[in-house]
Amino acid sequence: MKKSYKELSPPQRILLGPGPSNVDPRVLKAMSMPLVGHLDPYFLEIMDEVMELLRYVFKTENRLTLPISGTGSAGMEACLVNLVGEGDEVVVGVNGFFGQRMSEIVKRCGGTPIEVKEPWGRALKAESVEKALANSNARVVAVVHAETSTGVLQPLKEISKLAKKYDALFLADTVTSLGGVDLKIDQYGVDISYSGSQKCLNCPPGLSPVTLNEKTVEFVKDREGKIQSWYLDLNLIEKYWEEGRVYHHTAPISMVYALREALRIVYEDGLEKRWAQHLKACDALIKGLNAMGLEILPTENNLPSLTAVKIPEGVTDINVRKTLLNDFNIEIGGGLGELKGKIWRTGLMGINACERNVILVLEALERALRKEGFPTKAGEGPAAAMEVFKE
Ligand SMILES: Cc1ncc(COP(=O)(O)O)c(C=O)c1O
Repeated sequence: MKKSYKELSPPQRILLGPGPSNVDPRVLKAMSMPLVGHLDPYFLEIMDEVMELLRYVFKTENRLTLPISGTGSAGMEACLVNLVGEGDEVVVGVNGFFGQRMSEIVKRCGGTPIEVKEPWGRALKAESVEKALANSNARVVAVVHAETSTGVLQPLKEISKLAKKYDALFLADTVTSLGGVDLKIDQYGVDISYSGSQKCLNCPPGLSPVTLNEKTVEFVKDREGKIQSWYLDLNLIEKYWEEGRVYHHTAPISMVYALREALRIVYEDGLEKRWAQHLKACDALIKGLNAMGLEILPTENNLPSLTAVKIPEGVTDINVRKTLLNDFNIEIGGGLGELKGKIWRTGLMGINACERNVILVLEALERALRKEGFPTKAGEGPAAAMEVFKE
């Protein structure tokens, strides 16, 4: 044991990686508010407001829209464990790391994933999904809307139509899209979705907003036997968040305060305005990167909240990320799985999707690349990006 432990003093990073993103000071302040009990009348009102605000960001009328206690993966697991049991087939889109994780969870639920694959960096093809549905008994189709590992945005409408055609429920992972990218749960026909607090919502990690329509609620209720996970059983969680307000587990009060404040900020800003800011910031970033001679991974369907940049030959991934962190206090992400060492992941999420950050990260990248011997002309990237903001 050490004799004494210093007071916490974390560095003030600019978090431009795949998440978490920076948190608005208003959110941190909300977290420091006095605790009340998880059944206190004050807290029950806060819960109602959180559900209302979540309906706003998900663009849904779904009654059952609430935050699961846990990170995005808890939301993923909650959705799948409630939908999938022993022997069930599930069509899962696998074109990145998080599609793979869904497939793994389906297996752990005792189900069989029917994987629809595309190379990492491409969106799934509707015809492949249709083929999988036509040749299986799947009652669920699961895809990742915003694949954080590849920077690909998956169009939802066509797959949603196919799910209806084959009488399957449509599940979408919206961890990196909620609050930053065009997402309309009801209009796009998504039956059930989970997200995360730490990306475009600018809240610390720890809650996973989930929404499901009545058709899905009925599906879960009609399932034979008990849901295999007690903690993530949506029938039980519903009783705490909705009817009855029956104790299930002690809600993470301070995190719920934080989420409420983060959602209040999105509501004040306006969702559509935020989507437009993400599009503009991403467009500027890509134009800047291209001007510096860098390419992005997806050739189409690129995700506004996260850009996957190909690492040029001869440049060492970790050296560049270290320069960014040590000299500029900027965090960007490396590649996951098969893209490790091949891409950088630059997130512009929520309040981070702004001109200052785009210019800053381009400037820092330029310097880091020059250190690595990659030829970039000073100022070219930022200048190209600035043109976009002038428009
Ligand atoms: C698309 C996607 N799904 C799921 C997750 C898992 O979320 P968490 O790391 O919060 O558990 C992430 C995390 O980055 C993600 O990007």
